Amino acid sequence: MIGQSKTLLLFGATGDLSRRMLIPSLYGLHADGLLPDGLKIIGTARSKLSDDEFRETAVEALREHLPEDFFSEMTARRFAQRITYLPVDVTTPDGYQELASRIDVDEGVSIFLSTAPSLFKAAIDNLAAVGLAGDTVKLALEKPIGTDLESSCEINDAVAAHFPENRIFRIDHYLGKETVQNLLALRFANSLLEPVWNASHVDHVQITVAETVGLEGRAGYYDTAGASRDMLQNHMLQLLALVAMEPPAAYDPDAVRAEKVKVLQSLRAIDADSAKANVVLGQYDGYLEELGDKSDTETFIALKAHVDNWRWAGVPFYLRHGKAMARRKTEIYIQFKCVPHSIFGNISGQMQPNELIISIQPEENIRIKMMTKTPGLDRGGMSLREVPLDVTMEGAFSDYRRRIAYERLLLDLIEGDPTLFVRRDEVEAQWNYIDGLRASWLRADMTPEAYTSGGWGPTGSTELTQRDGRAWND
Ligand code: BG6
Repeated sequence: MIGQSKTLLLFGATGDLSRRMLIPSLYGLHADGLLPDGLKIIGTARSKLSDDEFRETAVEALREHLPEDFFSEMTARRFAQRITYLPVDVTTPDGYQELASRIDVDEGVSIFLSTAPSLFKAAIDNLAAVGLAGDTVKLALEKPIGTDLESSCEINDAVAAHFPENRIFRIDHYLGKETVQNLLALRFANSLLEPVWNASHVDHVQITVAETVGLEGRAGYYDTAGASRDMLQNHMLQLLALVAMEPPAAYDPDAVRAEKVKVLQSLRAIDADSAKANVVLGQYDGYLEELGDKSDTETFIALKAHVDNWRWAGVPFYLRHGKAMARRKTEIYIQFKCVPHSIFGNISGQMQPNELIISIQPEENIRIKMMTKTPGLDRGGMSLREVPLDVTMEGAFSDYRRRIAYERLLLDLIEGDPTLFVRRDEVEAQWNYIDGLRASWLRADMTPEAYTSGGWGPTGSTELTQRDGRAWND
């Protein structure tokens, strides 16, 4: 771990991420007394605002984005007093000197670049030129880090020219989610699951990230990214890595990330010959109208992935993500193998394999479906039924506030713990997989199938699991 920071510098402070997530997260940390004493927050962006004008926009953002019962005008105003603002054009050196003069670098600085990635290099060069890249400075980067492996390497090289890896904090906000971290607790703080967490006992794994939203006014970015680059490359592959990784020796940045990267590097490449059988692309009806243009961008992707290692040999990982789906649901579903022999005679229709369902959002719970005896005198033989063992996080932890993922990540950044940030080799392994996948579907002439908004994606997605005698857990 490297030291705590006494200054947090937010680039892109007037942007959408800052208003919706970063400012509300910092407010949450402030309200709970978790920010280091005397932490100064400096916002920068191009808009010419005074400190007070920026503070006013920050309070407005809090009013708009915080739950009503958590927002307090008085706390918001006190929190805003921690913030100052300086207009800076990221691309030109002007302004950086003044920025540097406001900061005591020796006391530690965290810089959060929430700007377009095309501006990263200019920003970092300019920061370095005024002494804001030294040993006490940490740098957080928001996704997307590139649009493919090559561009991601260019960005990573530009950053590495001034910052060593241990001071770079690449954000994947899914890792800040409580329920995602709970995956580690579920797997490695219980002895029950680990012995069956492998190809001998697991039939298959499903990871679903379904969203009801569409373009949300981000057409310019989204249409160049699509589902594969916007969600699969980062959040979904990180979820997969957490599900499939070996137990790390300790919960520390090197051990955890070393295990995740091994999984990412073990993903079987999907080649052009197998693309049609293993990948489904979709585009929701209404996308083109929303976009106002022609497009082959996928707003849905489903695929059958394999982790080619000893633990997971032969176990399919079905992944799917889409916009404009039936409901918002992020879930990991693990189906275990059926019992090898039923002692209950001819009840095959009722005997179901055990299932473990980890709901990440919006519900936060863990369910294990178990076979149990249906009450009765069993004159025709024992009757069985599947019943869930249910752990609802809200019930078990009702006195805990549900935090924004960025609260955790911002605090870890300020305190210098990179465990929940993505290391360069992980990002590159993720891009390597996605580049291969995209090249294969292009070579196989695949284009997205239309699907109805508010459904579960194109028919090809249902067929993907059906062909293997399985079904999505909708
Ligand atoms: C972002 C994507 O990274 O994650 C968005 O760019 C997506 O397209 C969002 O909507 C989903 O995040 P969450 O936390 O709402 O599941």
